[in-house]
Amino acid sequence: MVRQDIPLNDLLPTDLVSLRRRLLRWYDRHRRDLPWRRPPGSSNPYHILVSEIMLQQTQAATVVPYYERFLKAFPTVRHLARAPKDRLMKLWEGLGYYARARNLLAAAKSIVADHGGHIPRDPESFSKLPGAGPYTTAAVLSIAFGAPLAAVDVNVKRVIARLCDIDRPIGAKDAQVDSIATALLDRKQPGDFNQAMMELGACVCTPRKPACLLCPLNAVCRAFQNNTVGDRPVPAPKAARPHRAVVAAILKKNRRVLIGRRPDEGLLGGLWEFPGGKIEPGESPREAIRREIREE
Ligand code: ADE
Repeated sequence: MVRQDIPLNDLLPTDLVSLRRRLLRWYDRHRRDLPWRRPPGSSNPYHILVSEIMLQQTQAATVVPYYERFLKAFPTVRHLARAPKDRLMKLWEGLGYYARARNLLAAAKSIVADHGGHIPRDPESFSKLPGAGPYTTAAVLSIAFGAPLAAVDVNVKRVIARLCDIDRPIGAKDAQVDSIATALLDRKQPGDFNQAMMELGACVCTPRKPACLLCPLNAVCRAFQNNTVGDRPVPAPKAARPHRAVVAAILKKNRRVLIGRRPDEGLLGGLWEFPGGKIEPGESPREAIRREIREE
């Protein structure tokens, strides 16, 4: 078992300089041409912020058209800060995880009101922006400003679990994985290095059928050497998926249809829906919809 108190040096490949060089060379040759990386090396911090918020929980190929429409609608952080919320939510429709959009709007307002319209460069101020957790802080500040912070998302966790052959489930917050990521980071090119780790996870070190023979790190990957790649990362026990019976009504009057807006907080917050809700224990669907319409 890879214990959590094992010294870092026992987990890491010995030649970190060569690991970084191989990974960065691979990234240079094979990286996808994504609009937030265009032209290579250019980094408008606002564009990076928008892309990194969209890329949380969503694959790059899905994000591309949303990202392009978004920046056409709101080309600068000042445009975004003035955006009507409905217009923003409409542009986000289909991307999911709508709290990201509400937080991005609140972050833009704070950047304009509290930071003169400039994305704060220091991690402490940046991480106070709504929605800015450790991943977003490290990703945006390393890519936009070269800050030496390791960005650890689900792709990076998988790469590290295999590279170091970690034989336990990786937690949402995982101190050991964070210190490995920090030790691996190329401090001269932290933005490229972070993106290279993510890119490797997205394109080569994939959850199923990883392309180990094409991997620039296979010579130093412990799971590859131990033939355990398919068992890493060790899956965490899954929480049971809740099932809920709900009802909804389509109420029409004079060619108009009644819709209501969900509260800002919680699931699908701020979005529009037909009136309805959960069926209570002992209630029939018909009784439930009558009650919900009365309540709403
Ligand atoms: N996922 C999160 N950030 C990313 C980035 N900058 N490029 C590709 N995939 C990503």
